[in-house]
Amino acid sequence: MTHGKRHRARNALTASLALLAMGSVAACGAADPAEEPGERPLVGVAMPTTTSERWIGDGENVQDQLQALGYDVALEYAENDVPTQVAQLEQMIADGADALVIGSIDGVALKGVLAEAAAADIPVIAYDRLIRESPDVDYYATFDNARVGVQQATQLLQGLGVLDAAGEPTGQTGPFNVELFAGSPDDNNATVFYSGAMQVLQPYLDSGVLTVPSGETDFATIAIQAWDPKNATTRMNALLPLYAGQRLDGVLSPYDGISLAIIEATKTIGYGTAQPLPVVTGQDAELASAQSIAAGEQYGTVYKDTRQLAEVAVSMVRALLDGAEPETNDITSYDNGVKVVPSYLLTPQVVTGQNYRQVLVAGGYYTAEELG
Ligand code: GAL
Repeated sequence: MTHGKRHRARNALTASLALLAMGSVAACGAADPAEEPGERPLVGVAMPTTTSERWIGDGENVQDQLQALGYDVALEYAENDVPTQVAQLEQMIADGADALVIGSIDGVALKGVLAEAAAADIPVIAYDRLIRESPDVDYYATFDNARVGVQQATQLLQGLGVLDAAGEPTGQTGPFNVELFAGSPDDNNATVFYSGAMQVLQPYLDSGVLTVPSGETDFATIAIQAWDPKNATTRMNALLPLYAGQRLDGVLSPYDGISLAIIEATKTIGYGTAQPLPVVTGQDAELASAQSIAAGEQYGTVYKDTRQLAEVAVSMVRALLDGAEPETNDITSYDNGVKVVPSYLLTPQVVTGQNYRQVLVAGGYYTAEELG
């Protein structure tokens, strides 16, 4: 029952955060938990999917922290289906939601429903993913996404031995054969991760330290629709024949689910047995990838603590419902095509075989038993 344990570990921390938050409830005017349901503020939380474990953690953490403040919560998952997410948001508006927290599926598809929210004076917080082309996004809670891309590319170069642990060039010139994968084209984050990564990789591609045998480096060609591991398997399988006579040294992967699909595909042609697995990056520190890192398979990931992200989003909701201004730390980076959305960016953290115990286990995200 690893699942249960992970949630217990998270809930314990969530509870202590909530207690801290509750210390100042009276002063900040959060809901009185004694209020009858219906009198308490209602917060709609729309998450994209339960097919990826991280979003389950996100939804639970946001819900638990909001409930600890005495709010009612409507938490919905749309299983990566845009019309479903729009319908869920419409329902939340009809139910009288006082604020919306949205992890969008398609960054440009919510304009209409957000106009309805604005007409009803419901503030909207974009959660993790920027909502684009709408004037009705009030705040954005996320991680520094450009930095995630830089960290992924740096991790790839470190795994190949081109950069040392401090990020300095080792003098190793390869050439190394790599393939590049990007996230879903409808998710604004995917392009931000890609540009961050390419900023680091381009000089090495130009100098020939890295070569991409497929020749596929532009975003549209390497993007994986819906971040779906099945789509990553299809693309990786299509690339494998290129590696009949040469080694695949590394793969830039934007997300753990994709990373594991890539690793499995390479195993079918002898990687991990006849020869070492390629260096594969990732993102999210999902349990299966953390286990893979602990087992020496996936090289690394970029860890984004969903408890912290939930905390930021929840404190934004609370400020808005109190008539106060949410705290932001970036008011320039996230132009959604209509406006620059005031944002709070958290710092992502690199995790590899060297530090996963310290970061993920000592940090209470997973137990040592879960990681094997
Ligand atoms: C992105 C998110 C990543 C990863 C990916 C796939 O928007 O920032 O952390 O979770 O979606 O779910």
